[in-house]
Amino acid sequence: MNLFNVYPLFEITPVKAKDVFVYDKFGKEYLDLYGGHAVISIGHSHPEYVKSITEQVKKIGFYSNSIQNPIQEELAKKLGTLSGCKEYELFLCNSGAEANENALKLASFHTNNKKVIAFKNSFHGRTSAAVAATDNPKIIAPINAQQEVEILALGDLESLEKSLAKNDVCAVIIECIQGVGGLDESTTDFYEGVNELCKKHNTCFIADEVQSGYGRTGNFFAFQKYNVKPDIISIAKGMGNGFPIGGILIHPKIKASYGLLGTTFGGNHLACAAGLSVLNVIENENLMGNVNFISEYFIRIAETIPQIKNIKGRGLMLGLEFDFPIAELRKKLIYDYQIFTGSAKNPNLIRILPPLTIRKEHINQFFEALVNALKELNT
Ligand SMILES: Cc1ncc(COP(=O)(O)O)c(C=O)c1O
Repeated sequence: MNLFNVYPLFEITPVKAKDVFVYDKFGKEYLDLYGGHAVISIGHSHPEYVKSITEQVKKIGFYSNSIQNPIQEELAKKLGTLSGCKEYELFLCNSGAEANENALKLASFHTNNKKVIAFKNSFHGRTSAAVAATDNPKIIAPINAQQEVEILALGDLESLEKSLAKNDVCAVIIECIQGVGGLDESTTDFYEGVNELCKKHNTCFIADEVQSGYGRTGNFFAFQKYNVKPDIISIAKGMGNGFPIGGILIHPKIKASYGLLGTTFGGNHLACAAGLSVLNVIENENLMGNVNFISEYFIRIAETIPQIKNIKGRGLMLGLEFDFPIAELRKKLIYDYQIFTGSAKNPNLIRILPPLTIRKEHINQFFEALVNALKELNT
C-alpha cells in the first residue's frame, strides 16, 4: 500500500533526536529551529520525559474515560498552577483541531448560537468547525462550508461590534499571535476590546493557544500579555512534546454535564504522563525564563542583518521577514547548513519555533549559517 500523498517532503529521514538536534539515518546532525512545527517544547527525548512515559507504559498505557484516572487530575492541577488559570476546568483530547472543535461546540451549546467569528489569516485546524474558521478556502471542503463563519480583518473592532450586535454569534476565536498565518499580532486595544465585546454580547471568547501556549511566547499563554479572560483556551502542540495530546481550559461559568463532550483516547494514562512531565520540566528548568532570555538575544542579532526587513512574533515564536520569497533560503539552510526552520502563508517569512531549551550557542550557529546562505544566494 502507498501512502496518501498529501505532504511535500524534504529528502531527510530523522531516526534519532536529542534536545535541539535531530539526526538522520546517516548520523548527520540537524539543528531544529522548527521543533516539528512548534511541538517540541522541552527538547527532543528529554530524559525525564522518556522515563515518565516508559514507566507509565509498563504500568498502564490506556483505559477509557469511564474509570478514575488520578494522572488526569494531577495534570489539571499542575497546569492550573503553572498557567495561572487555576479556576478553569480541563477537558482533554488528542490534537489542536480537536481542541478547537470541542471549544466551538461547547461555545455553541453554551450560547445556543451557531455563528463563529474568526480573523483573516487564521488557522485553527482541519476538522469540521475548526477548518471552517480557518482563513484558507483551499482546505475547506463543501461539507465544512455549511458552517456559519464570518472572517474579519485582524484589528477591526468596529466590524466585530456590528456583527456581535446581532446576538447570533456563539464564539469569537482568535490566535493572539498568528502561527501559520505569519506571526501577525494586533494591538492591546484590539484584544481587550474583543474580550469586552464578547462579555457584553454573551459570546464565548476562545483563545487558540495551540501553538502560542505552553511558554512559547515567554508567558504561559500569549493572551496573558493583555488584560483579558477567555472563556475557553485551546491547547495542544507543546503540551505533549510530541506525544499527541490536546485540551481545552474552560471558564467555570460554562457548566459541565455528563455526555456534553467525550472522547475515547483523550486523557489516556500515557498522554497524561507525557503532559505531566512536560509541565514539570518547564517549571524545574525555568524554560519560560530561558525563552525570554534567548528571544532577546536572537532579536538583537537579527536586527543587525540588513536583509531582514521585519522581525515578528514574541518569545520563541518568531518570524524573520525578507523582501524576497524564502523557499530557496530555507532549502539551503536545511541541505547545506543542516538547520530546520519553518515557512508560513507569507512566502517571505521564515518561522523560528525551536525547543524552549535552546541556548545562545545554537542561535550563533543559526545566524552564522544565515549570513553565509544569504551571501551565497546573492541577496
Ligand atoms: C493555532 C493553531 N490552531 C490549531 C492547529 C491545529 O492543530 P493540529 O494540527 O494538532 O490539529 C494548529 C496547527 O498548526 C495551530 O497552529
